[in-house]
Amino acid sequence: MRFTVSSSALRALLLALLAPALFLAGCEPSAGPAADDPDGAADMAVDGAAPAAAATWHGDVRPLVARYCAGCHADGELGPFPLETFEQARPWAAPMAMAVRARTMPPFLADDSGHCQTFRDSSWLTDAQIATFEAWAAAGAPEGDPSIPAPEPRALPTLSGRIEQVDTGVDYLPDQSRPDDYRCFVVDSPGAFAAVGFDVVPSNPRIAHHLIAYQPIDEAAAAAARALDAEDDTPGYACLGTGPQVDAYNIAGWAPGAGATLFPAGTGVELRDDLPLILEMHYNTVGGPGETDRTTLRFQAVDSGTVTPLLELGVLDYDFEGPPGEPAWSTTDYMPVQWSIWDYAPDYQGRVLLHGVNGHMHTRGRSMRIGVSGSVDACLLDMPRWDWNWQQSYWFEEPIEIDADDLLDITCVFDTRGIDAPLVWGDGTGDEMCLGGLYVTLIE
Ligand code: HEC
Repeated sequence: MRFTVSSSALRALLLALLAPALFLAGCEPSAGPAADDPDGAADMAVDGAAPAAAATWHGDVRPLVARYCAGCHADGELGPFPLETFEQARPWAAPMAMAVRARTMPPFLADDSGHCQTFRDSSWLTDAQIATFEAWAAAGAPEGDPSIPAPEPRALPTLSGRIEQVDTGVDYLPDQSRPDDYRCFVVDSPGAFAAVGFDVVPSNPRIAHHLIAYQPIDEAAAAAARALDAEDDTPGYACLGTGPQVDAYNIAGWAPGAGATLFPAGTGVELRDDLPLILEMHYNTVGGPGETDRTTLRFQAVDSGTVTPLLELGVLDYDFEGPPGEPAWSTTDYMPVQWSIWDYAPDYQGRVLLHGVNGHMHTRGRSMRIGVSGSVDACLLDMPRWDWNWQQSYWFEEPIEIDADDLLDITCVFDTRGIDAPLVWGDGTGDEMCLGGLYVTLIE
């Protein structure tokens, strides 16, 4: 068998076949196709020259980096080092391969392999893409042919039309005594309208790690947020990384590198003008010690009432008690879809269209799964490796129609080692949450 393969798709397939055999004793066992294909894979594995010839920076790795990494790993962005050129990337070849294999990078937590839904604008690498990074590193990070044209820059979604915006209101200097500072800013609502999309523009991308925007559910919750703000000497109040600590709807969740989020066509999130917004910022000071930031949240707006309201339904397990000392303690709960629609439409009996999903735990979370059963049996979200730092919403490629009578389930796995008392639900840093959000529209 000779390796004069020119099609990059075929080459990627070959790399996927080779990967388990080559990389290597000591790595976790991979269920790659090699074991099923002794003919192809075994022969190729002995022929050590093949992979070295197969993966180069210009031919194979650079297009992946442009698509999946350079949004953050570029000068002035959040990623701690740039990966835009061969010279920049070469010394990082081995750590890059390890990070993609461990799926810590790129940070996209929802399994998009197809066994539990597929998501739009996904950054979930395929096994073949991971194998390409590994083959490149294993071959000594060869440059390849510099005359291969540079990949097209990734076209990120952008907002258009009527824009309404709000910012955190202050050039904020994060607490420099620790690497991470979570701050909730209480700001006036930008108006009464339906947001059909949003984008986030930090004034300092080197330190702005993520933003989650909330609107309190009523005046009492708004007053509680203002009270927290007033008690705290510095601008805003400490969120502890666990949310706004008042009853609030989640309006927008943003992490760098992916561009604007456009809600499903014809849907939007209604904003009120009589209640403030709470902008929860996560700052990581490592990338810009002593630097300030003022982040702007921009909405693509249409008149209130002109789109189908996009509702966020909660699915949660809140009465768990995790015994200390377990590396992977699992808890599951079930709730009828009807229960979480109640706030919006009591006694609603109709069909429900699911557009997207998110999940939330704190730092002891290890993995999460959300599902639905009844009129359909489906996995809705599988996050095999939870990372508190990289929370976002995931939008289904195809909406899923379910029934108000269906049953939702949520399973969270926590690491309860190193605590003395049982792990319970709460807002505090030592407490946990097992919470999912479903973005839905109601089909009367
Ligand atoms: C959304 C922004 C973002 C994207 C996209 C991203 N990175 Fe990162 N990367 C970071 C940040 C921030 C860090 C610093 C550690 C952290 O915060 O997790 C990091 C750290 C790393 C590290 C250091 C080791 C580690 O795991 O922490 C490597 C290697 C790395 N990234 C490689 C990549 C590669 C390869 C890609 C694309 C396949 C990629 N990153 C995509 C933001 C990003």
